[in-house]
Amino acid sequence: MGTKSSKGKIWLFNVIFVVVCLGIFLLLWNAPPETTPRLPHDDNHQPFFAMDKKEAEKFCENCHQPDGIRPLPETHPPTYRCLLCHKRDF
Ligand code: HEC
Ligand code: HEC
Repeated sequence: MGTKSSKGKIWLFNVIFVVVCLGIFLLLWNAPPETTPRLPHDDNHQPFFAMDKKEAEKFCENCHQPDGIRPLPETHPPTYRCLLCHKRDF
């Protein structure tokens, strides 16, 4: 009895599925470009490029703590694991 209408519904679900996938795709496609500053190449940071990440992160706070030479802005996100956000490129 209900075969015809349930087939119609499956067709509808497939369309919804494709539309949702397209929506997610467009959302990711339009994502803003990455804005997190990378680790700078200067005398202060050059040593950290060659180090293990966890090893290097022990030094960041020497200068980037609140009373260091370059305190983090108040709007800075949580600071756990600096180098997972601030990427190092070579
Ligand atoms: C010897 C002091 C010192 C240490 C240690 C240090 N920094 Fe810095 N950092 C600075 C200074 C000074 C600046 C600002 C001048 C500049 O942009 O180079 C800065 C700037 C930055 C910036 C901003 C770059 C930009 O483009 O605005 C990032 C990100 C950063 N440091 C991350 C780190 C991380 C991560 C570590 C640990 C691996 C670290 N720093 C260790 C002194 C230091
Ligand atoms: C969760 C990701 C994340 C982590 C972890 C993180 N940061 Fe950042 N950091 C950012 C973002 C995003 C910005 C840009 C913020 C802005 O422009 O307001 C930033 C900006 C900075 C700046 C530039 C500030 C300026 O004056 O312009 C420095 C320096 C910095 N981070 C250092 C560090 C240090 C040192 C650590 C570890 C103790 C750390 N960050 C951990 C995401 C992160």
